[in-house]
Amino acid sequence: MKGIILAGGTGSRLYPLTKITNKHLLPIFDKPMIYYPLQTLVEAGIKDILLVTGGRNSGDFLRLLANGKEFGLAHLNYTYQEGEGGIADALALAEHFADGEKICVILGDNILEGSIREAVDAFERQARGARILLKEVPDAERFGVAEIKGDRIVGIEEKPARPKSHSAVIGVYMYDGTVFDKVRTLVPSGRGELEITDVNNAYIREGTMTFSHLDGWWTDAGTFESLLRATNLVAQSRGAKA
Ligand code: G1P
Repeated sequence: MKGIILAGGTGSRLYPLTKITNKHLLPIFDKPMIYYPLQTLVEAGIKDILLVTGGRNSGDFLRLLANGKEFGLAHLNYTYQEGEGGIADALALAEHFADGEKICVILGDNILEGSIREAVDAFERQARGARILLKEVPDAERFGVAEIKGDRIVGIEEKPARPKSHSAVIGVYMYDGTVFDKVRTLVPSGRGELEITDVNNAYIREGTMTFSHLDGWWTDAGTFESLLRATNLVAQSRGAKA
């Protein structure tokens, strides 16, 4: 399976921290943010990785990560997102790289305590479709929220005012080669972006979406509160004293 890290966007919710750098280069405890999703993919056995970035500081990723030697990689692929089109728009840039194979997409601001290896292995065995990871959270209205009936996921709502469950859809998505056709059918949402939730709902309508529950803590890091939370969670897991 190939891996794709989405690290574009303007990081407007973290302004002015993001006035002079890309959100994914900001520190989370002792490492730049981008290290964490990269490590998550590598730990799951995914070694063929594309980084999608953009903005004025995109060159810094190359200086920081180079060919990924620090992560045990021989090579890293990079591509550039023009403008601010959203997660699914960034994903569209990976079509050539994916070349029809299954992919595991991770958002560059998602920090996970544990491993996604079991879910990746399960998706390797899955004939077709998609697989997402769910985590129970107290503040589901900040995320894509899954509605589950029995053992099936029947729909996902993006940042609903009144969430139908506490199951947040975390920023790790596994897709088969049909994902790029689905992206092409999307129209921009209220916030003017192509939403990954709309891609996932297309798989749900098709009846090919499966899910796994994530063990261990998980957080995004795209707001001041979640950036601080991410730093504190990583620091605690390393046994750092406050
Ligand atoms: C995005 C997705 C959302 C998902 C979240 C995970 O939200 O749109 O469905 O739950 O990532 O981090 P964003 O924070 O980019 O608005």
